Amino acid sequence: MALRNIVKEGDSVLRKKCRPVVKFDDRLAGILDDMRDTMYQAQGVGLAAPQVGILRRMVVIDCSMDKTEYIELINPEIIATEGEQEGTEGCLSVPGVVGWVKRPMKVTVRAQDRFGEFFEVTGEELLARAFCHELAHLDGELFIDVMEYEVEPEDEEDEE
Ligand code: NI
Repeated sequence: MALRNIVKEGDSVLRKKCRPVVKFDDRLAGILDDMRDTMYQAQGVGLAAPQVGILRRMVVIDCSMDKTEYIELINPEIIATEGEQEGTEGCLSVPGVVGWVKRPMKVTVRAQDRFGEFFEVTGEELLARAFCHELAHLDGELFIDVMEYEVEPEDEEDEE
């Protein structure tokens, strides 16, 4: 296992469409482990493969405070959404920027695990937001493309 460098906005790799994962082998498992460790090290709640320079359709997510709700999504597709939420969002690839972004309140994803088995998972609130944000990375989209406006740090403090 190793930490990977997180690619920053401006690098064209973040703007490309990722290809599906087709081989569920030890190499894939190693990359996923590296992505998980890199996400936790960076104190992120999610990380998509292009953020570590890999143009394959896979993301890792953990929105819990205590690192107990780790999720890997390979070749994920959003199959249902419900409601709407508005709130702040950031990205490890866009340091220092916080944006106000509308997302669905509830999102169901169908994906494969690291062994190629299909499963469905439903998330609400922050997890639903993470699903949308991370899956968008796989199509070269960043939250700054869809944010309503940039939130200044002092605005954020006012809200709390
Ligand atoms: Ni991101």
